[in-house]
Amino acid sequence: MELTEHEQKMLSGEFGNAKKKSMEILVALGKIFGAKNMIPIKSVQVAGVSYSNLGEAGLEYLSELAKDGKVEVLTTLNPAGMDRENWRALGIPEDFAIKQNRVIEAFAKMGIQTTCTCTPYLIGNLPKRGDHIAWSESSAVTYANSVIGAYTNREGGPSALAAALTGVTPNYGMHLDENRKPDIHFKVEAKLKTLSDYGALSYFVGTHCKAKIPYLSGISNPTNDQLKTFSAGVVTYGSKPLFHVQGVTPEAAKYEPPVETITVTQKDLEDSYKALTGPGNDVDFVSIGCPHASIDELKKVADLLKGKKVKVETWIATARPTKKKADELGYSKIIEDSGAKFACDTCMVVAPIKGRFKSIATTSAKAVYYVSARFGMLTRIGSLEDCINAAITGKWKK
Ligand code: F3S
Repeated sequence: MELTEHEQKMLSGEFGNAKKKSMEILVALGKIFGAKNMIPIKSVQVAGVSYSNLGEAGLEYLSELAKDGKVEVLTTLNPAGMDRENWRALGIPEDFAIKQNRVIEAFAKMGIQTTCTCTPYLIGNLPKRGDHIAWSESSAVTYANSVIGAYTNREGGPSALAAALTGVTPNYGMHLDENRKPDIHFKVEAKLKTLSDYGALSYFVGTHCKAKIPYLSGISNPTNDQLKTFSAGVVTYGSKPLFHVQGVTPEAAKYEPPVETITVTQKDLEDSYKALTGPGNDVDFVSIGCPHASIDELKKVADLLKGKKVKVETWIATARPTKKKADELGYSKIIEDSGAKFACDTCMVVAPIKGRFKSIATTSAKAVYYVSARFGMLTRIGSLEDCINAAITGKWKK
């Protein structure tokens, strides 16, 4: 790989151990993927924050880097294993909380903004079209590439952190225009209304995509929340972390619809709902906010919960700055008065909840995939209205 003089100096250790180690990781990655050079980046989002995933070895690695490492660009974190303020109410054990806080402290020492969210673009880590960035979390990467038109590979935790500590990333994959062309056309005839309709569509497109880049037509005026839900599901079920929507996403106008075409009918959407929904109608856990809820979603949840009481454990996962906004607007009080709990900084997939619940109701196809694979829960997917109804009754009615 061709390195600049400054990159060579980082690699030789002239700027300390953390930058040296980081350049070693990035050069090794670049060689594997055939990158010719490094490219400067504007921002980073680091995954691998939950102590559940990192363990003791991961914590030691971070503490070592934090001795002399400082980030070069705006960097935020993916969700951690717990709400950093409200962890006791969510049933997180104290020994886990101690370890999780040590992880966050190590990131903070490196100059990272310790906002833990999979929607960094909603809380100030918002790239512009054409910016090169190094983000980790798959839904955020897919949203950034597709909806914003930024350029990022789906980084692992260590390679994203290495990019943050050096300000560069290897120039390959999604950073190159020639790799961003769509391969397969999905002609959407199904009617899409709710968040979970976009979740079901993401399942259909992802499972039919086979690691290609989808181009969708027939979708008009999706909301940002619908696009973030679609971003999370489509990459989880099998697409590359980029999609184009005719007349909606910024790069779609550069391309004609690909020749290979699949039509998405109303029946395909209904079959996707069936594939994502388990047997029975009991619900003992409701989780909203995958990806993390926006302020508009929190308003809708507050409207649905006003004057009601939830019967089962109900988590509303969101970024802490979004929750603060909801506090100011009075939504948080309505939500908490119902007995629902905020899960800021975290979510039901990265929190240590294995064995606590049997069946979950959610709006998100991505959540369905992970809670069934990791925790063996039965899943029910539906609109915000369906999920809040399940929270109040403990039953799934569709
Ligand atoms: Fe975010 Fe957790 Fe879903 S990280 S995308 S809320 S699985």
